[in-house]
Amino acid sequence: MAEKEISLNRGLQGIYLDRTNTTFIDGKEGVLEYSGYNIDDLAENSTFEETSYLLMYGRLPNKKQLSEFDSSLKDARVLHQKTYDIIDIVKDSHPMDVLRTAISSISSFDEDRDDFSEEAIIRKGIKLTSQVPIIVMSHNRMRKGLDPIESSKTLSHAANFLYMLEGEKPSEDTAGLMDTDFVVHADHGCNASAFTTRIVTGTNADFYGSITAGIAALSGPSHGGAAEGVMELVKDVGTADNAASHVKNLLANRERVMGFGHRVYKAADPRAKHLKEGVKRLSEEKGETEWYDILLAVQEAMTPYARRGIHANVDFFAGAVYYLLGIPSDLFVPIFAVGRIPGWTIQILEQMRHNILIRPLLQYTGERSKEYISIDNRG
Ligand code: SDX
Repeated sequence: MAEKEISLNRGLQGIYLDRTNTTFIDGKEGVLEYSGYNIDDLAENSTFEETSYLLMYGRLPNKKQLSEFDSSLKDARVLHQKTYDIIDIVKDSHPMDVLRTAISSISSFDEDRDDFSEEAIIRKGIKLTSQVPIIVMSHNRMRKGLDPIESSKTLSHAANFLYMLEGEKPSEDTAGLMDTDFVVHADHGCNASAFTTRIVTGTNADFYGSITAGIAALSGPSHGGAAEGVMELVKDVGTADNAASHVKNLLANRERVMGFGHRVYKAADPRAKHLKEGVKRLSEEKGETEWYDILLAVQEAMTPYARRGIHANVDFFAGAVYYLLGIPSDLFVPIFAVGRIPGWTIQILEQMRHNILIRPLLQYTGERSKEYISIDNRG
């Protein structure tokens, strides 16, 4: 193909891969909808269980459907003993590496592994939605030499997640904030990790292989790893008064301010405000308002960048929520994965419905047709 005809889009910026009727994002206006429902309505009125149903089935459940779906999630709150054994073997690794390894192992115990029907994919999505929190929190206990806290069979998804941290039931308000965090993280169109699950699904590989690959993509600091980076930034800033000079130095050194910017949103990320309010409430409740003050000061220092479409994204306040909840910072990215399982499940389903191998091209710019010279005659 003649060079002039090739239009190169590095990072596939602005390229439409396929059609979807799940997640709508208007980056210019800062709008996010799951199956037509605005994220503001879902964050304020829905639950992670209801939003997971919405994503997997494409419609809000009635009371009976939600009750049955919730029961299937609670019934799935178990791990195979071999998965605990595998977590124990790799317990000194980063929690995202442990999560990737544990999920990959589940495929060898799941009789549904080779069932590619919609029902089986949703069954596996429900199972993982309930098992991923157990893997994350069990590893956190086991790496400290403690026994895992057994999952509650009655608490909500968010409350059970926090309960497995140290065996203490969270307050309704705290569980509600964790639930909102999972709702706003549940899906986000063809982000890097969702695209990865689609690529793997495109080869007709199995569900667990797609999710394992998605976990690997999410672990990078340019994607899911930002929340951990935000808390490191906040600690480096130290006080609200230092924020402006610290941010100025970062930008002068062409470094990235973690929790800011987005490939699609050039207006404010509509998810961030739902966690910002939670950080304010939680920091006042814990008597640690300095973290909220520092975040606000960093956001203030970044105001000039808003003109360039660089705003706080979903991860900017999420890290402070987790920190104030007493969650270790290396669990921040796994928490993102806990919320994203329903989203990856529907991305895999949509890819399967009209499956096609995803295989882009690379523009070759090297030398051509070189003569092969035997090693005895090479310089
Ligand atoms: C998530 O895709 C999704 O939907 C992801 C996600 C989801 O729900 O799945 O929304 C979750 O991943 C949120 C993003 C979390 N990552 C971070 O917060 C890490 C910090 N942010 C960036 O590294 C960056 O903003 C990206 C990677 C998120 C997006 O970068 P792009 O779209 O590739 O843009 P770019 O790197 O080309 O930057 C464009 C310009 C550059 O300036 P110039 O070189 O043109 O002068 O904007 C600047 C960048 O330097 N810029 C930043 C910045 N982000 C962009 N400058 C300082 N700090 C930043 N954070």
